[in-house]
Amino acid sequence: MVRPKLQIALDHNDLETALADIVKVGDVVDIIEVGTILCLQEGHRAISCIRSLFPEKIIIADTKCADAGGTVAKNVAVAGADFMTVICCATLPTMAAAKEEIKELQVELYGDWTFEQAQQWLDLGITQAIYHQSRDALLSGETWGEKDLTKVKKLIDMGFNVSVTGGLTVETLKLFEGLAVYNFITGRGISAAPDPVKAAEAFKAEIIRIWGE
Ligand code: 5RP
Repeated sequence: MVRPKLQIALDHNDLETALADIVKVGDVVDIIEVGTILCLQEGHRAISCIRSLFPEKIIIADTKCADAGGTVAKNVAVAGADFMTVICCATLPTMAAAKEEIKELQVELYGDWTFEQAQQWLDLGITQAIYHQSRDALLSGETWGEKDLTKVKKLIDMGFNVSVTGGLTVETLKLFEGLAVYNFITGRGISAAPDPVKAAEAFKAEIIRIWGE
């Protein structure tokens, strides 16, 4: 089984604190996400600045785009993003327009969505999905469990590269053992740790322990 990648989500309120973290952990992680919060605060400037610091890394703009897909995708691609996210309730034309303008489009799964819709995304040629426990759901007491694993497995079996995110800790990763997860996305698990480099290394080491090199 291919080793899942490790992605940091930079959900900082300003570019300066995001840069302070990414210069420390950028070489440990596989993918850098300019998170939704940072996109809303600093958008183009954040993506282009991080692109210039990390010319070889995959950079994701987590726009959770719901409309104007083509324009948003073109803008983040010009700034330096490789991938961009759209929210699962966006229309198929929004997704199709975004897909035209960016290397890869990821559908972010929140709230109500169906496997019939997921098949339509695949039919459009979108092969990346992000299985998400929202911050707000976790705060209201939701936890990772069997119901999530079943859906993640089904999406993988359908042919998606599935990223998993939402309040992940090093301890959470073993829940996914045996599943061909494409990518684990963590924000606070690294940025809010007392030592972000040690935290990123611990995530990476646990992924390697479970899935191998
Ligand atoms: C919030 C997000 C976050 O970037 C993602 O869930 C990772 O954050 P954390 O690990 O802090 O929960 O997409 O909308």
